[in-house]
Amino acid sequence: MFAASTTVVTRLALVVAAVVAGGLAVASTVGGDSPPPDVGGHEPLRATAGADQRFVGVAVGHDAFLGDERFRSLVVHDFDTVTFENELKWSEVHVAPGEFDFARADAMLARAERDDLAVRGHTLVWHEQLPSWLDDARLGREQAIELLRVHISTVVSRYAGRVAHWDVVNEPLSHDGSGLRETVWSRTIGDEYLSLAFEFAHEADPTARLFLNDYDGSVEGEKYDSLIDLADRLRRDGVPVHGVGFQLHLDGRLDATTLAGLVQRASDLGLEVAFTEVDDRIPADAGPAELARQARRLGKVASICAAAPACSTFVVWGLTDGHSWVPTAFPGYGHATLFDADFAPKPAHSAVVSAFTDAADTQVEGG
Ligand code: XIL
Repeated sequence: MFAASTTVVTRLALVVAAVVAGGLAVASTVGGDSPPPDVGGHEPLRATAGADQRFVGVAVGHDAFLGDERFRSLVVHDFDTVTFENELKWSEVHVAPGEFDFARADAMLARAERDDLAVRGHTLVWHEQLPSWLDDARLGREQAIELLRVHISTVVSRYAGRVAHWDVVNEPLSHDGSGLRETVWSRTIGDEYLSLAFEFAHEADPTARLFLNDYDGSVEGEKYDSLIDLADRLRRDGVPVHGVGFQLHLDGRLDATTLAGLVQRASDLGLEVAFTEVDDRIPADAGPAELARQARRLGKVASICAAAPACSTFVVWGLTDGHSWVPTAFPGYGHATLFDADFAPKPAHSAVVSAFTDAADTQVEGG
């Protein structure tokens, strides 16, 4: 009784003090989980895209997601899923052979769960962002297999039942898509590393949906075709691959007919499709006309996903243009996301919302 009233008095005192100190914004953070700051009145993407059991997500980094209330509020307003941009990659979690540090990923996952956001796991096998100790490790085949097993089963079992989708192998194809990429795993284990990775992940969480994820730098989509072939081949061999992830890092171009055909082809083969890293980089000095063209492109990408029951996921890579990987990775380019650096929705945001809304309306009308 006494304890309870003391808490009330203390809370009240803090709120009063904060208001006196000059801001309701300060008062609103008292208590930790209190209402987030206003992020504007635009139509939330999740209301349209997610309505049809489709995940609509965004890649987020640890510091912004946990440290910036405005950032997190906008994520919660617009999306129902987050992908951790870096925090589950080898260099982040696998700090020494067999030794893991999950502090950052755990904190993000806990926050996501409190916010009712699903988490897409990214990624278990990739040739980039590997820890430096791995460069020095002289791995024989059996050791490499054991290392891969330990990594995948440790990460996947830690989050079993909480992370339902994994980009198991990222970028397995060579840059031009003519074959498999040569990586530390193909060199030490051989191409069998692919099936082993999926088997280890499946063993660690038999309920998780497992994806092969890649990018395609060509407009024609040949590389996504090869990705579908690879996923299909593995599945025919009994490997637990459930879908293909198309990263879809666009560079101001889109062949919508080809993309729609690729989604259809994957779907015909019984594969799930995820648009895992959608963004569209354009020159940093682009003006309104280019932003309008970008809106048409990204709207088209969204409508292709919306029209395909097999397309279960639409994830944007980066919340705002101020949080995008593009300016660093592609100097001279920017504006790649749905929100500008001031957190305001861009024309591309309304185009994506309209694409999902129109698709939902068509489905309702069509019965
Ligand atoms: C990028 C991150 O966004 C950057 O912060 C990091 O420095 C490099 O990796 N394809 C992928 C993602 O699968 O993991 C990459 O993410 C972008 C390209």
